[in-house]
Amino acid sequence: MNALKRRGACRALLAAWLLGLGASLAHATVRVPGRDQLYRPQVHFTPRRHWMNDPNGLVYYNGWYHLFFQYNPYGDRWGHMSWGHAVSRDLLHWRQLPVAIAQGRHTVIFSGSAVVDWHDTSGFGRGGRPPLVAVYTANPRHGPGLQTENLAYSTDGGLHWHKYTHNPVLNIGLQNFRDPKVFWYAPQHDWVMVVSKAEQRRISFYTSADLKTWTHRGGFGPAGDTGGVWECPDLFELPVANRPGQRRWVLKMDVQQHQPGTGGGGQVFVGRFNGRTFKASNPHPQALDLGEDYYASASWSDLPPGGPRVVTIGWMDNWLYAQAAPTSPWRGAMALPRRLSLRWQDGRYRLLQRPIGALAKLRAAPRRLGAFTAAQGRQLLAVPARGRAHEIRARIWVGRRGAFRLTLGSHDGRSVTLGYSAASGKFTVDRTGQYRFSPAFDSHNVAPLPTLQGEIELDLIIDRSSVEAFVNHGTLTVAERMFPSAGAYTVGVQTRHSRVQQMTLWTLRSIWHRAGAPRR
Ligand code: FRU
Repeated sequence: MNALKRRGACRALLAAWLLGLGASLAHATVRVPGRDQLYRPQVHFTPRRHWMNDPNGLVYYNGWYHLFFQYNPYGDRWGHMSWGHAVSRDLLHWRQLPVAIAQGRHTVIFSGSAVVDWHDTSGFGRGGRPPLVAVYTANPRHGPGLQTENLAYSTDGGLHWHKYTHNPVLNIGLQNFRDPKVFWYAPQHDWVMVVSKAEQRRISFYTSADLKTWTHRGGFGPAGDTGGVWECPDLFELPVANRPGQRRWVLKMDVQQHQPGTGGGGQVFVGRFNGRTFKASNPHPQALDLGEDYYASASWSDLPPGGPRVVTIGWMDNWLYAQAAPTSPWRGAMALPRRLSLRWQDGRYRLLQRPIGALAKLRAAPRRLGAFTAAQGRQLLAVPARGRAHEIRARIWVGRRGAFRLTLGSHDGRSVTLGYSAASGKFTVDRTGQYRFSPAFDSHNVAPLPTLQGEIELDLIIDRSSVEAFVNHGTLTVAERMFPSAGAYTVGVQTRHSRVQQMTLWTLRSIWHRAGAPRR
């Protein structure tokens, strides 16, 4: 080790100690060359190693966004569920910290949420500082048993967590009762918990004054898609952007997929919530994402004023095949954080999802293409793109009968195609012919989508092993994984009676560098 490296290592050790991460130095000093592994996303969060699923405990406190997640600290398949932890200043550059809430002797730690208990209603606070409180589901570790809701708290701004000694705080004697989302309901000055009775396809609402004693208030469901168990509910209020003064509540839950090709699991109801129970204004839910890989999304708690009101992140994977994904030494990726808004559109409320604004900071080397048609097809990234993430923004005029296809092609002929046909009024995502590690990976998803006065607006983020599309300003979104052979892909566009009006391509700078961590 040369002197410079030694000095660097000493500084890192000191910093880790100062940050109160001493207990996990072994973990902190393991260096995994993150950015150069095959399929390693460059602008999406992935754990350095091991298995990850749902985002958990999303909370903002004191300048830091916390992202906890379902994590197996011992392997690259689901198991030993604990809350992994990462922090960020901007929701893009993440620093992974040691496991925050570890599995216990008898229970593992399933999904849940976290809040800043500003008024110290729980009494966990110390030294006048508000505690951060996590509410999670404890799942029996060995064999069947009851799922219960439990608390853990942090008095150092989210770095270290203690399980509450009088857990559980909610036990209704049910085997599938999970994924509590808690928020402060100011009009009634109490906490609300939204939690799923998964097998019954029912969401229950509870309230509490101190996060420890919960009273049942109402329920919602079954409704909409009841084909799979209901998991990971979320509930938040948004202004209706194009109806000044109007606000509505959005209730989301994920429906676990049983067969491929039915899209990501989230469904969304828009309606009213009175602090006790939710009533949908429209019995037909909106599908949250047309892709196969968007699950268990959740919203950040306690976001700072001045930014978007609701920001979410989802697990960019699918239970049907996630455990077989050909990545190593990690498995599982988060989608990009999305900012949400609500509009009254085509006779109903529509939830819009766009990538967070900070993504623009990563853009480099813009290439602007003027208007063009490409009846024979045109390569946009002709040299196989490898190792880099890209963003493509385009406006494509399709009129009444035009169509286009954007193809992410691989060496071996396997491709993911996004397309639109004005004649049918439908947007399509085609990932058939991809079967390599799971038959369930093949999919073909279609959704109706009106044009914007004859045009389709498209924002595409391609990141080594995923593609995300935000269409018509986020009216429709697509999140899908792909595993092009040798990690190399090309991007092409083909127009039919249509025309690309404007297109810009960027490379996106990698987020793989140190992003700091909060101080105690
Ligand atoms: C959703 C889910 C949750 C559960 C967690 C377990 O993906 O099944 O319902 O809490 O994963 O890891």
